[in-house]
Amino acid sequence: KREDAHYDDLTALSPELDRELRKLEHMFTVDAAKLKEVSLQFEHELRQGLSRVSRCLLPSLESEGGNLPMLPTWVLGFPSGHECGEYLTIDLGGTKLRICWVTLNEGKGENQSDQEIYHIPKDYKVGTADQLWSFLAESMEDFMTKRHIEPEEGTVIPLGFTFSYPATQEYIDQGVLQTWTKGFDIKGVEGHDVADQLRQALHKRGLPIQIVALINDTVGAMIASAYSDPKTIMGAIFGTGCNASYMENCGSIAKLGGLPENLPMAINCEYGAFDNDRRILPRTPYDKTIDKESPRPGEQTFEKMSAGMYLGEIFRQVLVDLHSRGLLFKNQDPSKLLTPFIIKTGFLANIEDDASPSLTSTHAAFTTLLALSPTAAERLFVRRAAALVATRGARLCTAGVSAICRKKDISAGHVAADPLVYNNARFKARWAQAMAEVFDWDEARDEDPIVMTAAADGSGLGAAVISAMTLERVARGDA
Ligand code: GLC
Repeated sequence: KREDAHYDDLTALSPELDRELRKLEHMFTVDAAKLKEVSLQFEHELRQGLSRVSRCLLPSLESEGGNLPMLPTWVLGFPSGHECGEYLTIDLGGTKLRICWVTLNEGKGENQSDQEIYHIPKDYKVGTADQLWSFLAESMEDFMTKRHIEPEEGTVIPLGFTFSYPATQEYIDQGVLQTWTKGFDIKGVEGHDVADQLRQALHKRGLPIQIVALINDTVGAMIASAYSDPKTIMGAIFGTGCNASYMENCGSIAKLGGLPENLPMAINCEYGAFDNDRRILPRTPYDKTIDKESPRPGEQTFEKMSAGMYLGEIFRQVLVDLHSRGLLFKNQDPSKLLTPFIIKTGFLANIEDDASPSLTSTHAAFTTLLALSPTAAERLFVRRAAALVATRGARLCTAGVSAICRKKDISAGHVAADPLVYNNARFKARWAQAMAEVFDWDEARDEDPIVMTAAADGSGLGAAVISAMTLERVARGDA
C-alpha cells in the first residue's frame, strides 16, 4: 500500500458524502465527446460573429446562436520585432491600475519597463465614470511627476491603454464599451467611447498625453509574445476572465467590408459570452446561482464557468449548498463561507497541493480563511470537489482555443496565456490533456503541436509594441 494512499482513499467518506460526491462528479465532468461538441459549436459561433455587425446592434440574430462579438481591433498584423521608442502604458485591471514606462529596443536586447501599481478603491468598481477617469488621470500624473517624464518640445507622450472589456472599435484609438464584465458596474460608461472619456480627464489635468491605441489584454498578450516568438498563434487569458484573440484575414470578416482581403487584423473574440443563449454548456445549479447573483445576469456564460476568477466562487457555492443541507461543517458558523468571492483560485490549488499526511494544510486553510474546522472525511471531500471544479474549468478553456485553431486551420503553434495560469502546473496539464482529446492527437507523439506559453507582458510590452506599430503606420501614411 502506498504511503500516501489515504489522500485519495474516498472509502473514508460517509455514505451521504459519497453520494454527494458522485452527484458532483456527474455534474462537473465534461468528457471528450462533450468537449468536442462544445468546440464545434464554438467554431460555428466564431464564424457567425465575423459576419454579424454586433450583438448589441442586431439582437434578433441571437436566436441563430451567435453570441460572440468577434471585435476587429485595428491591430493590423504581427510586429516585425524591430519596433522602437518610448511609451507610456496603462492597464485597468480588476482592482489595480498598472502604469508602465516602456522603452523598446528594436528587438536588440532587453526592453526596459518601469512600472507602478495603483490600487483602485474598491467602491470605484461600482461607482461613477467621473470617479474612475479622474483616478486614472491623477495616477498617471503622479507616475510622470515621480519619474520626470516630459514630452520633448512640441510633442506629446504616446499612450497604449489596455482596457480588457468588450469595446467596439472603429479606429485603434477609440472604443465603445458594450457591457461591463468581471463584476464591474460603473455607471455612465457603457455605450460610450472610453478613450474619449479618458482623454477628457487627461485634458482637464493638462497632461500632454496622446492615446495612440486602445487594446484588449488578449491582443496585448498575443502581440507582446509575437514580438519575440514567431510561433505565437493567439493570445489567451484564462484567469481574470476567459477570452482570446487571433489574427484573421479581412476577407473573412464579412461585417467589415471594403478592406484588402489579405490584410491581417487581430480579432478580440470576447468569447466569455459564448453560450449566452444557453444551448450547449452543461451548467450546474451552482453556475446558475453565480450568474443570478452577478451584476449582469445572462452575460458571460462561458467565462463564469471557466475563468480562474470564478472557480473559487463555484467551489464556495458547492460548500454553501452542502452546509445548508446539513452535510458539511455541521453545527459550525458558516458566516465567512457565506461571503461572495471569499475563496480565490489559489485556495483551491493549495487544497489540491496538500501533501500532508492527514491533509492538515487543508484544515489550516479552512480555519484561517473561513473559521471552519473540516473533519478528516470532509477534507477528503473538499479536495475532490476542488479538483472537479478546477478540472472542468481547465478543460472548458480548450474549447475556444481549439475552435480558433480549427477555424484558421492551424495545426501547430504557441498559445500565449496569462503567466499566472501558465505557472499553475495542474491547470496546464489538464488543459494539455483536454487539447489532446479534442484533437485526437496521437498518443505516441513526441510533443504536443499546440502548446501554451507564458505571455510576455501584454499590457506593458504589448501595448507599447502596438503603439509603435500604429505610429509607424501613421508615419507611412497608411493609417
Ligand atoms: C473579460 C473581458 C475581456 C477580457 C477578459 C480577460 O472576458 O470582457 O475583454 O479579455 O475578461 O481579462
